[in-house]
Amino acid sequence: MFITFEGPDGSGKTLQIRLLAKFLRTKDYIVFTAREPGGTEIGDQVRNILMDMKNTAMHPRTETLLFCAARAQIVEEIIKPHLKKGEVVLLDRYADSTMAYQGYGHQNDLDLIRRLLDFATGRLKPDLTLLLDLDPDEGLRRRQQGGGEWNRMDAYQLALHQRVHAGYLEMAKQEPERWRIVNANQPPDVVQSLLRKIVSEYLTHNYPK
Ligand code: TYD
Repeated sequence: MFITFEGPDGSGKTLQIRLLAKFLRTKDYIVFTAREPGGTEIGDQVRNILMDMKNTAMHPRTETLLFCAARAQIVEEIIKPHLKKGEVVLLDRYADSTMAYQGYGHQNDLDLIRRLLDFATGRLKPDLTLLLDLDPDEGLRRRQQGGGEWNRMDAYQLALHQRVHAGYLEMAKQEPERWRIVNANQPPDVVQSLLRKIVSEYLTHNYPK
């Protein structure tokens, strides 16, 4: 069972994943969590290049390829082996982030990015993708007020973050069987109980014990 979490910066994914993992473990699932970009030794090095505020000269194509490089590594080194063992893998961002930010956000050719992602992931698709939906200006406000580090990606103009948001909604519409949208502009415990309900129902239907 491969579940990915998507959403704009500041939507609270990290906290929600931690709480959901804890909940699933109480239900006797073996749960593995990781975040992108990073999650592997090589991926973390790539992440540092991507997030470094010094790297203002980075071209959007360079950025796209670096995200894909980190992803290729985490798929082979981490995700596939854990899935093979029958674990539930919760991943903080995956290929849809590249579609949203580098595709819709930077207005690159979406079909090309899709093919690049197929190459990077070896076509490994999530079973379920949870979109923590939040207005981009609210997300950026949260980040600026101290919700984590302020990095090179956050510093992009609001217009890019708005295209990212619209891109997420468009992708969710195109593949409704994989995506679930949760309004992240609610107290964290409300968001968490919605996520628990969605994931519990999905597991009961698709992975009965
Ligand atoms: P991070 O600090 O992990 O932020 P968050 O908590 O919002 O996930 O930074 C990840 C940033 O990188 C975030 O702005 C989204 C961006 N990103 C892409 O642009 N493309 C990608 O493929 C991925 C995985 C992330």
